Amino acid sequence: MSIQNKQIAVIAVDGPSGSGKGTICQLLAKELGWHLLDSGALYRLTALAARHHGVELDDVEALEVMAEHLDVQFKASDSGKAVQIILEGEEVTHAIRNERVGEDASVIAALGPVRRALLNRQRDFAQAPGLVADGRDMGTVVFPSAELKVYLDASAEERARRRYKQLISKEPGASLDDILNDIKARDARDMNRAIAPLKPAPDAVRLDTTQMTIDEVLQAVLDEARHRGLR
Ligand code: C5P
Repeated sequence: MSIQNKQIAVIAVDGPSGSGKGTICQLLAKELGWHLLDSGALYRLTALAARHHGVELDDVEALEVMAEHLDVQFKASDSGKAVQIILEGEEVTHAIRNERVGEDASVIAALGPVRRALLNRQRDFAQAPGLVADGRDMGTVVFPSAELKVYLDASAEERARRRYKQLISKEPGASLDDILNDIKARDARDMNRAIAPLKPAPDAVRLDTTQMTIDEVLQAVLDEARHRGLR
């Protein structure tokens, strides 16, 4: 098992779905000029690959092999803005964001062998000049020596509202109640699993973003980075 590359600065950002991690990590990486690890994408890609290959979500051995040999490329797009995700030669950038893939991802993420198979792949993202890592166990398991650990949270109702706003233009039939129920089910699964459950690292800076704007959260994290000499 490779250990965290101690030479490379890491900012680990954890929290539940809808806490704003994804947006904040993208903005942070851009602001600092650092690499970005979207670890949730790796769980989503494993789940999608399993579907493509007809692997059942309780077939632990086959899922472990799938995670270990995931054929994926993260390509910077021509515009230099978004990253394109290619799975086994097929572009899946949008397909992995689908709600069902997210559900499947959270089911397979509870399996120890799958998590172990993805560990080194995640640590390999730590490259100079630094890494912003987005996930559920970045500060607790994957990058325990991260220079800065942040745990973002928000009420389940606020997180559901944020998700609803994102979805409604693409899925006009989306229901706020269904989204809230899904978020609560996902939280329960992520927080109560035996291996690498979602929880703040003891040394994490905790931010409740319920009443905060994206810019306020970004500035708060950048201030913490500044205090630690990371910028
Ligand atoms: O963050 P995202 O919604 O893309 O993650 C999808 C699922 O993958 C989460 O609900 C969680 O179960 C799992 N996950 C995880 N550990 C991570 C990142 C994601 O267990 N570091």
